[in-house]
Amino acid sequence: MFATFQYFMAGNSARFFFILSGEHPTLPLAELKAILHAYAIEHKIVGSFYKLIEMEADRAKLESIASRGAYVDEMGEEILHTEDNLESIKREVEFANLEPFLSSEDSFNIRMLRFGGVSKELSRVHLEGYLGKLLAEKTGAKVDLRSPKKPFRGILAGSLFHLGLIMHQRPKGSIHRRRPRKRAVFHPSTMPPKIARCLVNLSEAKDGETFLDPFCGVGGIAIEASLLGCNVVGVDALSRMVRSARRNLAHFGLESYGLVRGDARNIPLRRVDAIATDPPYGTGASTLKSTTKDILASFLPQAKMILSPGGKVVFASPLGTDAMGLAESQGFKVHDRHELYVHRSLTREILVLGAN
Ligand SMILES: C[S@@+](CC[C@H](N)C(=O)[O-])C[C@H]1O[C@@H](n2cnc3c(N)ncnc32)[C@H](O)[C@@H]1O
Repeated sequence: MFATFQYFMAGNSARFFFILSGEHPTLPLAELKAILHAYAIEHKIVGSFYKLIEMEADRAKLESIASRGAYVDEMGEEILHTEDNLESIKREVEFANLEPFLSSEDSFNIRMLRFGGVSKELSRVHLEGYLGKLLAEKTGAKVDLRSPKKPFRGILAGSLFHLGLIMHQRPKGSIHRRRPRKRAVFHPSTMPPKIARCLVNLSEAKDGETFLDPFCGVGGIAIEASLLGCNVVGVDALSRMVRSARRNLAHFGLESYGLVRGDARNIPLRRVDAIATDPPYGTGASTLKSTTKDILASFLPQAKMILSPGGKVVFASPLGTDAMGLAESQGFKVHDRHELYVHRSLTREILVLGAN
């Protein structure tokens, strides 16, 4: 027998759910944790199942960071969770204090998600109708399937049913409009927006801080850091790359005065708060006759000198570069490591390093 729980808003702390993207096994949760750490948001992860993460934390703080994550599809406040059968669901909804969430003045809808092929005997469509009727009867609110004032989320995950009120959803098309082919200048070496944003978040860059991409290319990472409110410095050895990056940032209405031609092995800066980058691999991007490993070996000591205390360096490199050995031999602590399959001949290794 499972316990059933309901959550009442006590002060500002309550229980929330995040629905993360399922497109990578480790990056989405690592990104969310990095954002929470960067903003020093106290939280407790109290449950997780596949793409669902449940967390106790302060509402206003979570709301303020929800839109930063590349892999945060949705976030909301959990009202209750219970066993995944109609009897328990009906009992808990009837018992729940819905006043803080829904009133007779509101319109609402409920959309169901099912994770992991579980609870097969409960049909999503049937549950949406069933819950809609229950909530409408209990509160006097009206169902509006198209543009409800209050969008509710039901989730079947493991052997539990969760009901919550959605607070944030990634706006439709927001990633698509920033993909490489939609920018002013395309280059095959550029990073797509989701992974670029994830790297920036893994570096724990906060709005208002100085962020560096020392191999900025046509600006894939710089765009995301700039959209997150960072003061972006981008360096590239080739003037045409810098010009293209400037055009790409301007295309999205972003400042580009921090983009300069330079050598990542001799960075013209004294201090930066965070670094995230994708150095050249000797494929589409110019390595200027060096190997990726040699470039990293010259860049990492520079990064160490200019990084603020506690700052992070995040970089991607092709698997087999021995980036980890290199980083450790230069006195970096490896905080995290991920692998990202790109295509048959490229799997990226992503490292999150601290200088101390
Ligand atoms: C993989 S691309 C970066 C792509 C970029 N992250 C984007 O999303 O558009 C690597 C870049 O490093 C630049 N580069 C190569 N050697 C460099 C060096 N020593 N210093 C600075 N930039 C360098 C290349 O010109 C190339 O534009």
